[in-house]
Amino acid sequence: MLARTVIRVNAFLLPLLLAGSAIAQGPNTAVLTIHPGQSQGKVSPTLYGLMTEEINYSYDGGLYAEMVRNRTFGSDWSGILDWYLLEKGNARAAMSEDKSTGPSQALPSSMKLDVQQADASDPAGVINIGYWGMAVRPNTTYKGSFYAKAESGIDAVTASLVGDQSGATLASATVTGISGDWKEYTYTLKTGAVQPSAANHLELTVKHAGTLWLNLVSLFPPTYHNRANGNRIDLMEKLAAMHPAFLRFPGGNYLEGNTIAERFEWQKTIGPLVDRPTHPSPWGYQSTDGMGLLEFLEWCEDLHMNPLLAVYAGYSLHGEHVNPGADLEPYVQNALEEIEYVTGDTNTKWGAERAKDGHPAPFHLTYVEIGNEDQFDKSGSYGERYQQFYKAIKAKYPDLQLIATAPITTMKPDVLDDHYYKRATEFFHDVHHYDNADRNGPKIFVGEWATREGLPTPNFGATLGDAAWMTGMERNSDLIVMASYAPLFTNVNPGGLQWDTDLIGYDAIHSYGSPSYYAQVMFSAYLGDQLPQSSEQGGGSRFFYSITRDSKKSRVYVKLVNADSTPQPVEIKLDGATLAGTGKVVTLSARDTQATNTLSEPRNIVPVEAPLQAAGTDLHHTMPPYSIQVLVLNER
Ligand code: AHR
Repeated sequence: MLARTVIRVNAFLLPLLLAGSAIAQGPNTAVLTIHPGQSQGKVSPTLYGLMTEEINYSYDGGLYAEMVRNRTFGSDWSGILDWYLLEKGNARAAMSEDKSTGPSQALPSSMKLDVQQADASDPAGVINIGYWGMAVRPNTTYKGSFYAKAESGIDAVTASLVGDQSGATLASATVTGISGDWKEYTYTLKTGAVQPSAANHLELTVKHAGTLWLNLVSLFPPTYHNRANGNRIDLMEKLAAMHPAFLRFPGGNYLEGNTIAERFEWQKTIGPLVDRPTHPSPWGYQSTDGMGLLEFLEWCEDLHMNPLLAVYAGYSLHGEHVNPGADLEPYVQNALEEIEYVTGDTNTKWGAERAKDGHPAPFHLTYVEIGNEDQFDKSGSYGERYQQFYKAIKAKYPDLQLIATAPITTMKPDVLDDHYYKRATEFFHDVHHYDNADRNGPKIFVGEWATREGLPTPNFGATLGDAAWMTGMERNSDLIVMASYAPLFTNVNPGGLQWDTDLIGYDAIHSYGSPSYYAQVMFSAYLGDQLPQSSEQGGGSRFFYSITRDSKKSRVYVKLVNADSTPQPVEIKLDGATLAGTGKVVTLSARDTQATNTLSEPRNIVPVEAPLQAAGTDLHHTMPPYSIQVLVLNER
């Protein structure tokens, strides 16, 4: 992905790159002296990863490729959400919620369609509007299913994808043999030479009078790696280009829920979809839990990420907490069982359950996070709660590293999760945050961070703040073992967003990476394994840098951030090594801090690659205004 995005040379940058060697050292020049042979620490190989939760329609209406919205027919005072009655011509029908019958214990109710009159030319049925539409592409196969039962006359249901504006049927299939007992039925919709569009909906219709009950109506497009119940291809490809080392899941606030009853209960998110009851997310909408514990793990498998499992630790957002001791014990046991589901072999109770769910091979787990943002627990119980989880988990899984979500005094945690949501100027002032941090304390996980400027996704001013902050994290990556931006996703449709400034935006059919996304692609693509000794003299107050070295390739990566509106001269001096004369510079820049990428202009700001002549021991270089650059320097 990166290789594809960086091959053109931006005409506006070229003069600055070429003029670099001619610019004399001035008072503003940043002089970086690098000692490639003297490493002061190791870069964490897991530094860059992903944080994710159900927020901003990240899974439902986002990564999770389900096209049917409210597939289990949840309702509020206004009726069944996202579903509408369809009466063509003389057809007459009524749609209602039936709480007396459903396909499973987890889904005990259903949608009841009473059809008084319908025939082949005037069918009756229901419409689902999808998550702000349904993406329909040419020559594509969509796999659908539903649970149904029928009475008095109805024995067939036709499923059709229909264009909102044209009313044209784009693909259609009829399921026959609907019986009087709840059963699952499948259907396949194949499009022909249609125009790609999101302005479509699903119709389920019948041609006879009678009664039909429906639940768990589903429709999936092709998914990443063709996984059943899988993920959107475009979004997975964008994540793959970030080369993430880990995935933190399932939250965030989503782990905690507003109340204890609304926490993420992993057992209710595994197994057949019909056995998942769904649950309210703290971000204001019901979660299908189609993205359940096993789906998170398979997402990790698909992108070669280490799972970073956050377990519920007895505190929920509205302030409820569970007292440490006997009250907390069931939650501790529940976390142990969850870990067994992830890592246990098939001889264990929960490993066998995972095998039954389709994945006999255990997953490798290194990190478990105990809760989320427990500094908000005003009862002060977190220190003891963490310790109780710690003792029980370490007794059974001594190799696991256990992350605390807030500083505690009861013991020294293995790792501490720090969160930072700031403005760009605040990050500029805070880039040295970890430079003098205690190396004998817990390791650090920057589990959530973002410059919050730009809506719905970061503008270039935010990207400069992000990049500056990343230079600080890289310089301290002997201490910071992992870092993840948050939130990762937002659906950009009206009502889709609950949290400003999210890394990747999308609607039902298209997606784009913000400039900050591309900064992260650059930072993770060019990351060495060593932190060479270096020093800086001069440079403006909005100049930031980090240096890593790839010891296997004898290559130095110099990351530079010029957050100023004027060019920044940089002189690089190598001590103890000479440059081979070849290299390259990758640049992300914009003319204004408010410049950004959008759904309609997704590639306004993308990395641009150019050759860099760098021989000898000195390199004179000038950074464009508002720019982030990676200099790739090959040692001779
Ligand atoms: O990233 C959005 C929210 O910010 C997370 O859910 C929470 O952990 C933090 O407060």
